[in-house]
Amino acid sequence: MNHFHYKGDELYSEEVSLKDIVAKTGSPVYVYSHATLTRHFKAFDDAFAGVPHTICYSVKANSTQSVLKTFTNMGGGVDIVSGGELYRALKAGVDPKKVVYSGVGKKDDEIEYAINSGILMFNVESEQELTRISEIASRMGKKAGIAIRVNPDVDPQTHPYITTGLKNAKFGITIDTAIKEYIRAKSLPGIDVIGIDMHIGSQLTKVNPFVDSIEKLKIMIGKLREQGIDLKYFDCGGGLGIQYNEEEPPLPSDYGREIIAATKELGMHLIFEPGRNIVGNAGILVAKCLFTKSRDDKNFIMIDAGMNDLTRPALYGSFHAVLPVVKDQTGMITADIVGPICETGDFIVKDREVPAFKQGDLMAFMSAGAYGFAMSSTYNSRPRVAEVMVKGGAFEVVRERETVEDLVKGEKVASFI
Ligand code: LLP
Repeated sequence: MNHFHYKGDELYSEEVSLKDIVAKTGSPVYVYSHATLTRHFKAFDDAFAGVPHTICYSVKANSTQSVLKTFTNMGGGVDIVSGGELYRALKAGVDPKKVVYSGVGKKDDEIEYAINSGILMFNVESEQELTRISEIASRMGKKAGIAIRVNPDVDPQTHPYITTGLKNAKFGITIDTAIKEYIRAKSLPGIDVIGIDMHIGSQLTKVNPFVDSIEKLKIMIGKLREQGIDLKYFDCGGGLGIQYNEEEPPLPSDYGREIIAATKELGMHLIFEPGRNIVGNAGILVAKCLFTKSRDDKNFIMIDAGMNDLTRPALYGSFHAVLPVVKDQTGMITADIVGPICETGDFIVKDREVPAFKQGDLMAFMSAGAYGFAMSSTYNSRPRVAEVMVKGGAFEVVRERETVEDLVKGEKVASFI
């Protein structure tokens, strides 16, 4: 069941017409389908039904509180990378005992906040970080749960910007160093050694790189056991891809079957950090055609959303399908769909055959639920857009459109000017 579908010539999210949403909220607007969010979360969770596991949704993909709350209600935890994400998650009611904290650059105040909140574990990405966490926890008279994020040096075969598990990437600790660090961690006063972690990249469309990495970590776990270090949690990270265009990523159930097969002899509690796989195809960005122009053999469709609202095409050359909100265009044209930002990189669609949108037409950019709003900015002093969640025949604004007053919040003109 696709929760973004046409009824006649009109595009709907569940039982709500997108035209009605724009009439109420204006454009551009991100729209999320609650039914899709829950279906995707459940599919991922069900894939591991037979084994002890926790789905720690990766907040960075979409940190909107209504999204976080949806997964919390389904028993989910979160993967965070900042104090800000922890704040959002706790505010949305996430159980701190289901929080894992990744990232190469954790600040002292963030570490302290996480320890105080009682999170499950830090995914440690350097030797110095391990020392620092121990120092801070000891000072607080506490012990911090940790896993070491191991960089398995496996190629995930995805875009270079979102490849994280190769040795030359900034992420994690190499296998040899990690073994030494586990031994050191055991003797550190503020540290409770409870897990092992990996995350090799994003938008993976094959299971092999995950399994290859797990195999490398399994050898490591064996060596650690010989040293008397017995870990409870195996955090497999996130990264399972979705279909944007013609990709054919494995289903969560296929991924689950292979991961379970690779890990079952370990008898560990599995943790997963999916982001895109759950939210990517649960959200769209609706925008409006402001103007069109043609010169020589080039057609431009200027819209009211720009690279500040949906950055992925400008940053990675990503593909987002575009659908008319009302199908009343005559024919197709090859065009660039561009935003109002003063940069040539400000496009959402490049040289693609699209419906011949005309002034005032609304269009939906699909698969924008992950790394869409979350990566948006106010570049060119453009207030960030509204977000709406749909459930059945109902919809609510879950984040108001920013105003120009919001843009100058906290800003002041220096007294010496
Ligand atoms: N865990 C860690 C430690 C991560 O760094 C990430 C994503 C995830 C989990 C979730 O990965 P996912 O399941 O969503 O693939 N902005 C890029 C993607 C950046 C991914 C960063 N890390 C994009 O728009 O494609």
